[in-house]
Amino acid sequence: MDIFNKNVCRCRGISFEQIEDAIKKGADTVEKVAEATNATKGCGRCKSQIKDIVESKTK
Ligand code: FES
Repeated sequence: MDIFNKNVCRCRGISFEQIEDAIKKGADTVEKVAEATNATKGCGRCKSQIKDIVESKTK
């Protein structure tokens, strides 16, 4: 899947690995990932993608 190879949040330059790392450290909601990484704090378009990643990692 190409989301694994590019920045999930282009505005803030946040990679899939950084999102994954934040989730591993306990960020189990989009809001917590946003706090931990600054992702979603630009245009906000990456939110649904981050939500998908959070859901796939926390189930
Ligand atoms: S791509 Fe994440 S805030 Fe714009």
